[in-house]
Amino acid sequence: TSSNASAVRTSSAVSTRSESVDIDWETLGFGLVHTDYMYITKCSQGGSFSEGELVPFGYIEISPSAGVLNYGQGLFEGLKAYRKVDGSILLFRPEENAARMMMGAERMCMPSPSVSQFVEAVKATVLANERWIPPPGKGSLYIRPLLMGSGSVLGLAPAPEYTFLIYVSPVGNYFKEGLSPINLIVETAMHRASPGGTGSVKTIGNYAAVLKAQSAAKARGYSDVLYLDSVHKKYLEEVSSCNVFVVKGNNISTPAIKGTILPGITRKSIIDVARSQGFQVEEKAVTVDELLDADEVFCTGTAVVVSPVGSITYLGKSVSYGGSGVGLVSQQLYTALTRLQMGLSEDKMGWVIE
Ligand code: COI
Repeated sequence: TSSNASAVRTSSAVSTRSESVDIDWETLGFGLVHTDYMYITKCSQGGSFSEGELVPFGYIEISPSAGVLNYGQGLFEGLKAYRKVDGSILLFRPEENAARMMMGAERMCMPSPSVSQFVEAVKATVLANERWIPPPGKGSLYIRPLLMGSGSVLGLAPAPEYTFLIYVSPVGNYFKEGLSPINLIVETAMHRASPGGTGSVKTIGNYAAVLKAQSAAKARGYSDVLYLDSVHKKYLEEVSSCNVFVVKGNNISTPAIKGTILPGITRKSIIDVARSQGFQVEEKAVTVDELLDADEVFCTGTAVVVSPVGSITYLGKSVSYGGSGVGLVSQQLYTALTRLQMGLSEDKMGWVIE
């Protein structure tokens, strides 16, 4: 990114700070680090978002009867900025996040920023917080756009006012395992989404809904939970915060997008990267049996990138993958994707913007 965007007004109190930040980049995990600025703009129901503003990062004031607090009328996005060795900053497919927010907003009865407003606002927020972008190879700047019903409602209805906000935080690995394989348990009692519901959009409630199963799994020593479909209870859906892929020989399959699965941008990118490397990739209904019979399993997401799965536990039985290390296919796809994202390999797909 190279210039401040026109869709953003910088309040007079704001000037980009350049002194270096006091962070140990070597131990950076996935947790909030307070940065300098956030972007904010509001609009009324039926209106459109006006030029937003960069303001110091901090608390926002919101009515106790805001739609988002009472009825969960909210969406979030996640994307990352990387710093290249030459100092330039890269964003990975931000227009895909913008398009997904628009789809989600439609489902949640909210107005949404246009693709260009979203992307310009992301660029401006990243630039204003440039000193928080980790050095090359030490992590990324995670960008968290929020869209929420901030106006007051009491009876159940769409809120009368909406807020679009973006904050950022430097991050390292999502799972404490880092690139080491994670251990998942298949959840058989609770489901993440059901047909006709909101599973395919990034609404905040989808993430609150998985906390109980995730906490129980973590208490038993697992890294996270893999959900099954709520109708047949035998097809894979996704993990709490990421999509799942199953590798068997040269074939890679991942659950098809059918309304209950979040259409991940990393998911979509990995499908293309894997095809370009000669793998047969299928988006289809993937059964638990196929999962248990796989050579390798891995997860994809903006936060988790590509996370190899070391074991799956299903109904008390565990299956291990990839020997004791990272499976070859997972490693190969991780390397290909992250080299692209960090500007280390040629961007033939036009996914990376400066
Ligand atoms: C992401 O991968 O960016 C997400 O939005 C998942 C979130 C639960 C960390």
